[in-house]
Amino acid sequence: MANMEKMIAERFELERLGGRDVFARSRVFWKTIDALQESEIYSYFQPLERNDGATAIYNGQTVVMLGSNNYLGLTTDPRVREAAIAAVREHGTSFTGSRLLNGSSVLHEQLEAKLAAFVGTESCTVFTTGYQANLGVLTALCNEMAVSVLDKLDHASILDGARMAKGKVLRFEHNDVEDLDRVLSGIDPDVGILVVVDGVYSMEGDIAPLPELLETCKKHGARLAVDDAHAIGVIGKGGRGTASHFQLKGVDLTVGTFSKSLASIGGFVCGDKQVIKYIQHHGRSMLFSASLAPPNIAAATKALDIMQEEPWRTEQLAEHANYMRKELRLLGFDVGESLTPVIPVRTGNEPLTILFWKCLVEEGVYTNPVLYPAVARDQGALRTSYMATHEQEHLDKALDAFKTVGEMLGVINAS
Ligand SMILES: Cc1ncc(COP(=O)(O)O)c(C=O)c1O
Repeated sequence: MANMEKMIAERFELERLGGRDVFARSRVFWKTIDALQESEIYSYFQPLERNDGATAIYNGQTVVMLGSNNYLGLTTDPRVREAAIAAVREHGTSFTGSRLLNGSSVLHEQLEAKLAAFVGTESCTVFTTGYQANLGVLTALCNEMAVSVLDKLDHASILDGARMAKGKVLRFEHNDVEDLDRVLSGIDPDVGILVVVDGVYSMEGDIAPLPELLETCKKHGARLAVDDAHAIGVIGKGGRGTASHFQLKGVDLTVGTFSKSLASIGGFVCGDKQVIKYIQHHGRSMLFSASLAPPNIAAATKALDIMQEEPWRTEQLAEHANYMRKELRLLGFDVGESLTPVIPVRTGNEPLTILFWKCLVEEGVYTNPVLYPAVARDQGALRTSYMATHEQEHLDKALDAFKTVGEMLGVINAS
């Protein structure tokens, strides 16, 4: 443990290492990774031998998968697989170009129409990843004449998009409407404002107070964009996301991804047709990157259809999440403010978090260790997330493992 603490401390110091050679940091970093791997406590870039959805094979062992965003369990659904295969047969493997020039297809447009209808907006455009969707929205809308105002816990893609855009970036305290009001009050009336929040926060699993945020935006004439990456398929009527969860109308833009409930990769933004057209022509990640490939579009389109035909998936997902949240709390774990299938289990400092992760894997449960800088120092957690297709035995196996390891490492008291 002491050795691990030393290695982690060295890693934090590393970022401050200066000097002419930009490769210098990698040499020191290599030693840390090497030592972690040797001690078999390195937890990133772990290759799964198979990923069947609710379970996976890791190091030759079947594990319950609590580390994925496959919320509706559709990545291995035979109908989704077949749709992707058929799209490759019909259209090939790639469009090899930007949407602007040669990379647009009827497949993109069909999916865009379906998404706009589902979210309840005039229009939609799809991007090659969810990450690029945020980059595209922010680089298109926040020029020198506008500022982006972000929740401090917004996803990295929103922050990266805001930094890449030419406008100034301001931030407000997480889910704090009064702080948003304070920040907006300080902005020059001639400057445009785009407020961007996550609908469901990807590490905390809590939900943005959208009605109050929207009211505050309207008070200041600001536009509001909501990243519903973890909300589509998860909350709201039939999985329609955060605005629907609050029965709210008037959110200006809804961003989403296909890499979670929609069993593919890709991203989208829904809104008014003029704004979407503008984003298509000005978002740098749309203009300067090749378009979403045929099998990815087909898989997302099929998953969107299934999600609507089989609402039991969204319902089952919520039931699983409620069960796990309740049972983990009963065992004595701190699961924060989670209200969704993203449930962080707080573990504390970095070495303990890594050790907890390792012991859980050995017990046959795969989770995601979340460490600084994704969270504050010594606020490590194991991010768990659930699927509609987990079975009761998977959930109970996970709870047994959490109890055993939690007691062994002193994170919870022995019962
Ligand atoms: C809130 C949020 N937005 C955007 C993204 C990026 O999406 P993608 O992984 O599909 O590029 C993620 C991915 O984790 C996310 O959690």
